[in-house]
Amino acid sequence: MALHHGEAHARVSPLANDTLLRALARQPTDYTPVWLMRQAGRYLPEYNATRARAGSFTALMRSPSLCAEVALQPLARYPLDAAIVFSDILAIPDAMGLGLSFAEGEGPRFAHPVRDEQAVARLAPPDLSALGYVMDAVRETRRALAGRVPLIGFAGSPYTLACYMVEGAGSDEFPTLKRMLYARPDLLHRILEVNATAVAACLNAQIASGAQVVMLFDTWGGNLSAEGYEAFSLAYCRKVFAALAREADGRPVPAILFTRGGGSWLEAMAESGCDAVSLDWTVDPRDARRRIGHRVALQGNLDPSVLLAPPERARAEARRILEAFGPAPGHIFNLGHGISPLADPDSVAAVVDEVRAHSREMRRQL
Ligand code: CP3
Repeated sequence: MALHHGEAHARVSPLANDTLLRALARQPTDYTPVWLMRQAGRYLPEYNATRARAGSFTALMRSPSLCAEVALQPLARYPLDAAIVFSDILAIPDAMGLGLSFAEGEGPRFAHPVRDEQAVARLAPPDLSALGYVMDAVRETRRALAGRVPLIGFAGSPYTLACYMVEGAGSDEFPTLKRMLYARPDLLHRILEVNATAVAACLNAQIASGAQVVMLFDTWGGNLSAEGYEAFSLAYCRKVFAALAREADGRPVPAILFTRGGGSWLEAMAESGCDAVSLDWTVDPRDARRRIGHRVALQGNLDPSVLLAPPERARAEARRILEAFGPAPGHIFNLGHGISPLADPDSVAAVVDEVRAHSREMRRQL
């Protein structure tokens, strides 16, 4: 891929703030780095304004310059230690021809869900050119960041993508997917195989376009049995991690795994080939560290609902989470799941401020 002149320069210039990368490598840092899952979103009035200007979420996602704009909005408000590419996990199945749409106030929908033998047989990893707008968003965002903080690329896990692809929409229980899992596991395995290939290719393309960290969102892995989690979700995450380019511009590119509801399987998650395990809010950080040891970094795990409470209450909860992880290297502060559209931006400010201040204080006491 041909690089423009300025771009090549931006890509080799050192980061002004590499705290996140050092914490992911479990090296000492002056404070605990913090970013928030879904940090660009509807709780920010400036996001809603840009989205209105784009016309729809889909149009926003397909405009690389507006993606860069909204990805940087939370950084303008808060001293965050990373930006995340603005896109959606469902861009990959859309590029496979499933016909993604977002109905106002309803959530995602696929016009062509993958439910029978014929549809499964037709399914193939997308041509990466169909995801060109995602790679353009990565490049534009990286350029706009100008080395301030690292840029995180992401994808859905093969299983979480399959949940939406088979069901055709979001769901509480994903009954269509679960029926396929038990009645025709061969069909689901074939979908997961295609997804793992597509996710690895998409993440590698994001890395080649400038992503400095990658994260797999396994939002629905927690709806599986213990045996099912290993067979249908983790096995395919492992394949993705094994296929990733782990270096760019002479720097390691660390990978983070988040399974919502994965608290029972932390040891297995830590052995999957990732560099960090992202904990949901139900996990006790002390228990996680005891079980995982220091093989990988840990990310998390403030209950996102804390951000519905007033700033001082949110601040106290952030301090409690920091204390639970302790001052040892290898913690990245985050939420236990994505931020709510109802989050109070002032409570977000209080949390980010507290993480900076209190984690510095904790290290002084080491
Ligand atoms: O700032 C960031 O973190 C980057 C952007 C990001 C979005 N989606 C933008 C988005 C990321 C990382 C995602 C991941 C995603 N998308 C997941 C996994 C993480 C999670 O939170 O569980 C899932 C399951 C999806 C699928 C998805 N996209 C759903 C279910 C919805 C509708 C629900 C909702 O929040 O409205 C979306 C839409 C979506 N993706 C929005 C955003 C900002 C809201 C769209 C809008 O502005 O109307």
